[in-house]
Amino acid sequence: MTTTKTKIAGFDFDNCLMNAAGVACMTVEELEEVKNSAAGTFVTKTATLDFRQGNPEPRYQDVPLGSINSMGLPNNGLDYYLDYLLELQESEPNRTFFLSLVGMSPEETHTILQKVQASDFKGITELNLSCPNVPGKPQIAYDFETTEKILSEVFAYFTNPLGIKLPPYFDIVHFDQAAAIFNKYPLKFVNCVNSIGNGLYIKDESVVIRPKNGFGGIGGQYIKPTALANVHAFYQRLKPEIQIIGTGGVLTGRDAFEHILCGASMVQVGTTLHKEGVVAFERITAELKAIMEEKGYESLEDFRGKLKYID
Ligand code: DHB
Repeated sequence: MTTTKTKIAGFDFDNCLMNAAGVACMTVEELEEVKNSAAGTFVTKTATLDFRQGNPEPRYQDVPLGSINSMGLPNNGLDYYLDYLLELQESEPNRTFFLSLVGMSPEETHTILQKVQASDFKGITELNLSCPNVPGKPQIAYDFETTEKILSEVFAYFTNPLGIKLPPYFDIVHFDQAAAIFNKYPLKFVNCVNSIGNGLYIKDESVVIRPKNGFGGIGGQYIKPTALANVHAFYQRLKPEIQIIGTGGVLTGRDAFEHILCGASMVQVGTTLHKEGVVAFERITAELKAIMEEKGYESLEDFRGKLKYID
């Protein structure tokens, strides 16, 4: 029997596909829809301490080869997501879900993580170090000094399972430097990649989203080669205790297969989920299983990380 089940941080998931943070995860209704689909689990919209309205609309646009967004971290605030997850772990004790969060400052990040640590939350926390869309706030993970400082401070008190969402890197030296930092900490996973930040999409003579004069994070088909490179670069460099979640350009089972081949233990779907809805999980899972069956692979372990090189 072919299976796409997987494990992250020691927790079992029936399927390796899930939503990418930001898509279909702002409200409990959206999260319920993902939970009740073929997805193995969900991650919440990245939560800040308090409710945020986000940037003015239009702020997300699907385009032929992907998407562009500058949402600006709209979310219902930490308590909204945490309360829901605490209820869920009572009603669904056999499933594990992801809480995504980040503060508007390092101090707020610590306040949030301390609240999570003090709560009864038993799931997995994803610290988002890569939001490209809040004016005046750089993507944290492009600043290695700040990243290292935050991680060293966080692991002084945070003992729950924690991973980080990363922006794409584009230089081999940056892969080396980032991995050297991450390897110092008891991270359970890194999630590669967030959108390629600050692209520009033009239709006729105009931008297509209002914030930042049209600059926004790019997702979808445009970003798969970058996503795969980041998944594989970190798979090669990180200690084996740090797993990889692959995100970026997953439209088909073949795309998910390639992420796993590069080393991913879980695969997230963003732009395609936004375009197609939760039925995408069923379709992509079926396509992935068909590829596995054709190749004689019964589980993800049979091919994870086994990308072939030309010698
Ligand atoms: C937003 C976008 C991101 O890529 C992210 O990681 C967090 C937030 C946003 O604009 O809401």
